[in-house]
Amino acid sequence: MILTVDRLGHLGDGIAQGPDGPVFAPQMLPGEVVEGVLLGDQLTDIRILTPSANRIRPPCNHARTCGGCVVQQASDPFVAGWKQGIVERALEGQGISALFRPILTSPPRSRRRATLAARRTKNGALIGFHARASDMLVAVPNCQLLHPDLLASFPALEAMVRLGGSRSSEMSFTVTRSLAGPDVVADGGKPADALFQMDLARLAEANGIARLTWNGEIAALRAQPMQRFGRALVAPPPGTFLQATEQGEQALLQGIALAVGSARRITDLFAGVGTFSLPLAERAEVRAVEGEAAMLAALDKGARSAEGMHRITTETRDLFRRPLEPDEFNGAEAVVIDPPRAGAEAQSHALARSTIPVIAVVSCNPVTFARDAKILLAGGYRLDWVQVVDQFRWSSHVEIVSRFSR
Ligand SMILES: C[S@@+](CC[C@H](N)C(=O)[O-])C[C@H]1O[C@@H](n2cnc3c(N)ncnc32)[C@H](O)[C@@H]1O
Repeated sequence: MILTVDRLGHLGDGIAQGPDGPVFAPQMLPGEVVEGVLLGDQLTDIRILTPSANRIRPPCNHARTCGGCVVQQASDPFVAGWKQGIVERALEGQGISALFRPILTSPPRSRRRATLAARRTKNGALIGFHARASDMLVAVPNCQLLHPDLLASFPALEAMVRLGGSRSSEMSFTVTRSLAGPDVVADGGKPADALFQMDLARLAEANGIARLTWNGEIAALRAQPMQRFGRALVAPPPGTFLQATEQGEQALLQGIALAVGSARRITDLFAGVGTFSLPLAERAEVRAVEGEAAMLAALDKGARSAEGMHRITTETRDLFRRPLEPDEFNGAEAVVIDPPRAGAEAQSHALARSTIPVIAVVSCNPVTFARDAKILLAGGYRLDWVQVVDQFRWSSHVEIVSRFSR
């Protein structure tokens, strides 16, 4: 069957109009004429008859098999336009149009945090990502996405799989680059009795792993896995959220700084371990609110280790169930809000009733971002600008920073 791809879906598949509805053509680009075999709504065994001018040779030699990246075959300007388009359409869906600041894309080999799958094999161990729409594991020794420090941890991870993995089930490793070496969270391995724990500790020591968390328990702590946020050094609890790339984090911070301007009292909602709170506290008083007490304890310790900071206070609070009410902002001149994928519906309703002059909204989900933006606009806020920060290069994920004011 010959089809012409007419658009890219929000998960990165080419979509063509087939005889019975939309047909998904993985790794194909709009405008391409392709020939393939139709299996349900999927086009398989695809041959490109007319390539798109936006098609490039994927920079990674795992691109054909690995499911980790979905748009390596497209040029950077094309991907930038596609990602911005996803946000524009989500906003249009809520009847909102916006001014967009230029997209900022993180460079290749900059992901400082990633979750990999692993399995013991007949001859050793396999670490990698799953193949596209499959549970098959693909080894990715030349991955163009991960920071070289993460790739350098693969031999140590493989050694852990050989020691504590199984051939019948998968393990997962969340690896985060830290100032003291990789911070590794391993799940799905065999239970760690005292003897095995000593093996793990030796392995971590020999391979420069800063901290190893095995099935939820810290199995080795060679050095605190510090992260730097402005002047402050923070040791995040195992597995907690961090922005995906350092460049993405800086881009978000620049957007936030532009949004909040010279505000002297800032409330940071969904503050995590202080990614934004700590740099902001170098020039403003900050109140950090977050659901996880352990994250705030790390933030607080980091704040106390830094010199010349403004006052920074923390508050553990479930902002879904108990959003900060308008009379609780205590004279804040700006709010920064960076909720999880579910967005911040309840908190947005409360903000919409507030008199806060400026709100910097950060989001990793265009759909909930648009829903919450509509709530703020209904409360009288203006949407001044939106900026896409692509720290999930070659994936279908989108990160947003934006400014609302009244
Ligand atoms: C996208 S992360 C942002 C963290 C931080 N702003 C950063 O950039 O590192 C979302 C944060 O919201 C927190 N969170 C999730 N659900 C929450 C809730 N119901 N109430 C308060 N915080 C919550 C998570 O623990 C996480 O730290």
